[in-house]
Order: sequence, then C-alpha cells, then structure tokens
Amino acid sequence: MKKFKVVITGKTRPAALNRITEACDVQIWEDVSRPVPRETLKQWLLDADGLFSTGDIRIDDDLLNYAPKLKVIAQSAVGFDNVDIDACTKRSIPFANTPGVLTETTADLTFALLLTATRRIHEGWDMVRSGRWLNNYDVPFGIDLFGKTLGIVGLGQIGAAVAKRAQACGMKVIYYNRHRRDDDHLLQANYVSFDDLLEQSDAIVVLIPLSTASRKMFGHEQFAKMKPTAYFINAARGGVVDTAALYEALETRRIAYAALDVTDPEPLPAGHPLLTLPNIIITPHIGSATHETRSRMALLAADNLLAGLAQKPLLTCVNSSVNYR
Ligand code: DGY
Repeated sequence: MKKFKVVITGKTRPAALNRITEACDVQIWEDVSRPVPRETLKQWLLDADGLFSTGDIRIDDDLLNYAPKLKVIAQSAVGFDNVDIDACTKRSIPFANTPGVLTETTADLTFALLLTATRRIHEGWDMVRSGRWLNNYDVPFGIDLFGKTLGIVGLGQIGAAVAKRAQACGMKVIYYNRHRRDDDHLLQANYVSFDDLLEQSDAIVVLIPLSTASRKMFGHEQFAKMKPTAYFINAARGGVVDTAALYEALETRRIAYAALDVTDPEPLPAGHPLLTLPNIIITPHIGSATHETRSRMALLAADNLLAGLAQKPLLTCVNSSVNYR
C-alpha cells in the first residue's frame, strides 16, 4: 500500500517517530546544529502529505506555496507564533498544537525561575563551586515570597498552574488578561488593569502568547512603572519584551532582577549584553523540557498528524473551521 509522505523539521522523540514511520515515509532534518534550510524544506514539501513541525521554522504563504498536497500540519509545541494560521486556513490545511500536556511542567519551570532568582540559588551554588564560601555572612541574600504579590500577565492554563504554586507559598495573586476570566474567583486571582499590575506586583510572571498585539509589550514605559524591587520572569516568548529596554532597566536597577526562559534573539549569542548583568538568570527555553512532557507533546503531535492524514478530526486543532469532520 502506498504510504503517506511526511516531512519532520527536526529531531523528535523516538516513540513519536516510530508511530509516524509505521504509517508514513519520512524525511527528517536531524542536524541539531542548525534549523532545516528553507530551500531544503520547500523541496521536501513538494510531494508531502503531512508536515510535523518541531517549532523552529516559519510556516507562511511563501512556504505553503511549495506544499500543494499538504493535508495536515502538526506542531510539537503549544505556542504557534511561528505559524501564519490564516495561510493554513485559506488552503484548508488544519493545524494543531499541543496544549494541556505541558501545563504543569512549564508552571514548574516558571515557578522554579521565580524561586531561584528571589533566593539567589544559582549565585549561592556559584559561590560554593568556586571556593568562595568563606563564612555565613557574605552569602547571597534573597527576599521572601510569603506575603508578596505575584502579577501574572496571561492567566491561561499555565498561568493558573503558576497561581496555585504561588498561593501555596503564601503569595497574593493578581492578573491581567485581555479579557477577564469568568472563573477567576475559583483561582483566587484578582483581575487588575495592566498598569495596576505593573505598579502593584513584587514579581511579574509573563505567560502570554506572542502576537502582533503582544510584541514588545514590555518596554521602557512598562519597566518604569514597576517597583524598583520588582522581579520580572518571562516564560512565554522573548519577543514580548523589548530586550534593550530590559537591559537598561536591569543595568540602572530600575527593577531588581530578571529570570528568563526565553529571549529575543534565541538562542542568545555568547557575548550578548544581557549576559554581562549580575541581576539576571537565563535558562535555554526549557519550559517543557522534561523527558515525560516532551514525549507527551511529540506523541500528541504524531496523533494529530496521523488523524489529518486519514482525514479524521485533529485532536487539538487551532483553525477548527477547516478541521476534518
Ligand atoms: C511551547 O510548547 O510553545 C514551548 O515554548 C516550547 O517551544
């Protein structure tokens, strides 16, 4: 029987790859040192039935013009700011992401960044490892979370999971979304305006998707409104922050500290100005990077891909108007 042709844009988890290769002929980009070149991708897509994206390519009109047979796009990530959804929809190509399966894991990492920054855990470890632990006075001092206010920008599934962790530590939670959540009383999170959140929070956690509206939502003006003691945690996308403005806010101590899992640009090149600051910690976009979660994401994406190839409904379709029925 003729197998479907599928393009996979990067290395994925073995269980998901096995599931796909049982039913499909696969072309996969395995070089982790660079993303698949666009021209290669265009050539591969010419006769492809399905596209499995690992999230590091731009999917737009220009690319889809080279994919005349494409029936489905499945991406192994919850974020899809790299995808022009309208370009997919107008070609009747359903697109699916992987919501839900990474919620708790990403909330763990976000909260771990908050704890690491506020208690200077990484600075303490640096001190011990480098033999600079000489007494119990000149050690990194942090701040308490208990009794402080956490402002969450983007109270979706991950934001709600972060709120629970914060409340367990005795923090008060306020949030800003474009639209107030009907169930926020259940989450014991108070809805406030964006400006009020900037002004009242001791720590701000950013979990909004990157879009035209949210690009550079945190710039000079927003950092100027924060408390000088504020901690700024970004676990969403680097593009929601004006990096130069963040650098200046940290360098001039306009705010106290930043903890970032995402940056703009990404990966952050060696020698970038942010890396010279003493009041920052940066992790390499590892919000969902646990063995279990990355496997769940890859398997959900594989199931979406196989459903689309069989012209059956994708489980987590973003552009549901063109999902199969
Ligand atoms: C996601 O799933 O969007 C994570 O940020 C990994 O890219």
